Amino acid sequence: MAKKEKSLGYYDDRTRLKWSIISVAVLISIGTIIYTNYLVGQLSERERQQIELFAKTLEYTINETSGSNIYFITDKILFENKSIPTILTDNRGNITDFRNIKIDSTKLTIDQVQARLYKRLKEMRESYPPIPVTVDDGYGHNIIYGYVNYNDSFLLVQLTYYPYVQLSIIAIIGFIAYLAVNYSRMAEQNKVWVGLAKETAHQLGTPISSLMAWLEILKEMPEIREQKIDYELNKDIKRLQLITERFSNIGSVPTLKVENMNLLINNALMYLRPRISSKVELKVHAITDNILAYVNPSLFEWVLENLIKNAVDAMGGIGKIDIHLLRGSENRVIIDIVDNGKGISKQNINKVFQPGFTTKQRGWGLGLALAKRIIDHYHFGRIYVKISEENVGTTFRISLRSATENQV
Ligand SMILES: Nc1ncnc2c1ncn2[C@@H]1O[C@H](COP(=O)(O)OP(=O)(O)OP(=O)(O)O)[C@@H](O)[C@H]1O
Ligand SMILES: [Mg+2]
Repeated sequence: MAKKEKSLGYYDDRTRLKWSIISVAVLISIGTIIYTNYLVGQLSERERQQIELFAKTLEYTINETSGSNIYFITDKILFENKSIPTILTDNRGNITDFRNIKIDSTKLTIDQVQARLYKRLKEMRESYPPIPVTVDDGYGHNIIYGYVNYNDSFLLVQLTYYPYVQLSIIAIIGFIAYLAVNYSRMAEQNKVWVGLAKETAHQLGTPISSLMAWLEILKEMPEIREQKIDYELNKDIKRLQLITERFSNIGSVPTLKVENMNLLINNALMYLRPRISSKVELKVHAITDNILAYVNPSLFEWVLENLIKNAVDAMGGIGKIDIHLLRGSENRVIIDIVDNGKGISKQNINKVFQPGFTTKQRGWGLGLALAKRIIDHYHFGRIYVKISEENVGTTFRISLRSATENQV
């Protein structure tokens, strides 16, 4: 039978929405860049035509006026060009004039000005080929009079970089907005967890007090005592009180105490042992019997219960669960829960901690979400799938802050 998977759908929708937004953003970015490149191309072509026209006019003027008015006219033509950086050179490459190049000649020596101009000239020649200006040598031959060198106008340069600057700013704003939305979503989730847990603890309080009062009355009846009903009832009330304590801890800031982890784990197993199949072998392996960590016992037991229940479910009632208690590096205590169950498929490993994700017919998909919340939020620790292989088994690892004897 094919494996069934359920999920609240929220995470799938969110992933889909995230990818849709990213795809649209990428398309808009590519569109903007292509369109701006088109505009840059158009403007560049227009500037080239303007400079060619300028070169042709210059050529025409030189040929027509044979000398006397050349400088006056070239000056006038050059004056019309107010944006495109232009350098005029003679046929040997010496600079004869320039326009639209900002050089503060008051602070520089003539040599420095010259050096800068030749540097700009070099850049211009690397960007665009110089346009030759030819004159008639009087014998019907055209000879080179000089060259018009030019480069992109400031407007064109700005337009080239504009989409990248604009998109970077939009990306930064988008990222900040994403963080803000994420933060408020987390805050909202927190409120729901805390509110629901507090309310549950509160609601359980009344019937438990009432049950305790009933128990006192029942204890007086000899037949109840004979059949040890009061003893069993008391155990159930204790369990209900523990559940209330857990919910109340989730709903407030739980206090962490220095606990002996070996004792705590064995305690939790004592409760679980009679409740799981006798064909499941449960063992604790500790490097020493004195490993201390900061924990909230009732919440930590809850995590352990969830992990062991999952392990039992994964092995269909027969198998082996080993709990290893180790010292990690940097003041950490490590608890590995190793089972030889059916394992988690690769594509599901990243989903198991999501609320609502389950592969079970009757699962809610909340056990691991709760465990993660308890370990991450309340114990400042970590819980993750250390390793899982299909049909071989799974290891969940919890790492907690360790404590020393004198911190008790
Ligand atoms: N030890 C394990 N081995 C194999 N799969 C596991 C194991 N632990 C968890 N899983 C997978 O992770 C899913 C989510 O586990 P989780 O405890 O969050 O929910 P659940 O057990 O399905 O339901 P609930 O705990 O709310 O009753 C499980 O349905 C199962 O597919
Ligand atoms: Mg579970």
